[in-house]
Amino acid sequence: MTHDLHTPVMLQEVVEYLAPAKNKKYLDATLGAGGHTLALLKKGASVVGVDQDKSVIEVASKRITDAGYANNFSYLHDSFAHALTDSTLPTDFDGALFDLGVSSLQLDTPERGFSFRFDAPLDMRMNPSTQQVTAKDLINGLGRKELYELFHELGEERSARRLADAICGARRLSPIQTTRELAEIIEGVVPRAGHIHPATRVFQALRMAVNSEREELKAALPSALSHLKLGGNLAVISFHSGEDKLVKSQYVAWEKSGQAHQLTSKPLTPSSRELADNPRARSAKLRLTRRVK
Ligand SMILES: C[S@@+](CC[C@H](N)C(=O)[O-])C[C@H]1O[C@@H](n2cnc3c(N)ncnc32)[C@H](O)[C@@H]1O
Repeated sequence: MTHDLHTPVMLQEVVEYLAPAKNKKYLDATLGAGGHTLALLKKGASVVGVDQDKSVIEVASKRITDAGYANNFSYLHDSFAHALTDSTLPTDFDGALFDLGVSSLQLDTPERGFSFRFDAPLDMRMNPSTQQVTAKDLINGLGRKELYELFHELGEERSARRLADAICGARRLSPIQTTRELAEIIEGVVPRAGHIHPATRVFQALRMAVNSEREELKAALPSALSHLKLGGNLAVISFHSGEDKLVKSQYVAWEKSGQAHQLTSKPLTPSSRELADNPRARSAKLRLTRRVK
């Protein structure tokens, strides 16, 4: 694969709050291209990285080995919710990071079907070896009401109903096979306005459904806290308001039960400088909490 590597989002803030140092160890639940992990390794810490996408693990492992940090790094090729049930995983991490969603490595690989910028089969599975259901299956198999709910809830798409109608109309003629076909149907319903492509929200909703992203996050947060030592920090970067709400309500519940204490009263967001350099950071929210019980 040849790509520009993924630019790690809110890297400075993550490093500041996770405070990596020699003899500290971290869980990077969403290894991706390894940008955050490398920054932790460079401070002398060790890292266990998790990713359900084998191809991004290969890229990250090579980067880490080439940079000379292989001895302090290990990885699990697994979904983070499942990896956190692994009894061999340490339960005294100094910190854990979730940088949710998709990596540029995935978005920029046309044949993975994550992006409307290329024409490819509608796939979007992060782990094709264990996941059966593709975006094509959902687009052609869900009923009109289910499509509406998907676009409305996960896509936060205002034209959800009209989009569901248009998709049901188009697939009656022949199944929708590719990213381009789907993007064209969407462009016929939602006019282009501003610099965000009209297909962005539908593609996000499909990706989240194909990879059960909300369910994964909900299951993983409590396990992540239980894998931290007392005083260990948990950092979650989300890019979707529904996910941010989920993180917020979990943090508030831990605050009430005295299990964890939030480190900032509001989520942190990228600086204007970061946004100028990396527009993909635009909807990022970083929430931090510390295990205290
Ligand atoms: C935004 S990227 C992480 C980028 C990384 N922090 C970096 O600096 O390169 C998110 C990564 O999480 C992975 N991922 C998403 N959901 C996952 C899950 N439930 N379990 C494991 N990995 C997941 C994706 O495959 C993707 O590589």
